[in-house]
Amino acid sequence: MHTIRLIYASDARDDLRYRDFIMIMDTAAETNRDRAITGMLCYGGGQFLQALEGERLVVNALYHQIAKDPRHANCQLLSVEEISTRDFAEWSMKIVDWNDAVTAARQTMLLRHSGSRQFDPAHMSGQQAAGFLRDLAAMERLLTE
Ligand SMILES: Cc1cc2nc3c(=O)[nH]c(=O)nc-3n(C[C@H](O)[C@H](O)[C@H](O)COP(=O)(O)O)c2cc1C
Repeated sequence: MHTIRLIYASDARDDLRYRDFIMIMDTAAETNRDRAITGMLCYGGGQFLQALEGERLVVNALYHQIAKDPRHANCQLLSVEEISTRDFAEWSMKIVDWNDAVTAARQTMLLRHSGSRQFDPAHMSGQQAAGFLRDLAAMERLLTE
């Protein structure tokens, strides 16, 4: 069994509403739990950045399914890595709305990883995206402690 982490960026459909996120979150939480998928989905400025962790075949199948979803477009693979430990083990899918709480700490963290204060995952490297999501997860853990 090979565990991988796949990270991609995409453009959300223009008319996406809050209830669409809730629907995505509900589906993801349920099906990911059944498939032992964990990860994080960050939305901001009309873009998605998502990390999917799990068994290689399962993650691949899910990514192909997600890439076909009409709620977003221009899916761009940023990185695929074999991993020995998961970064998001406690979440079947943690959804973070970047626009919701753009704190100074979050912006500094984004600047550290991407060189910009704008959330623009389509222009991040795979390494930058992985580091950013890892730190975002750490910040979320502090909030929920
Ligand atoms: C940005 C985005 C992220 C998504 N993430 C997941 C996910 O992590 N897990 C999941 O099962 N579905 C996710 N979905 C939904 C899938 O694309 C798809 O609708 C869902 O798997 C149900 O597929 P089905 O209707 O073919 O069964 C996501 C959709 C979008 C637009």
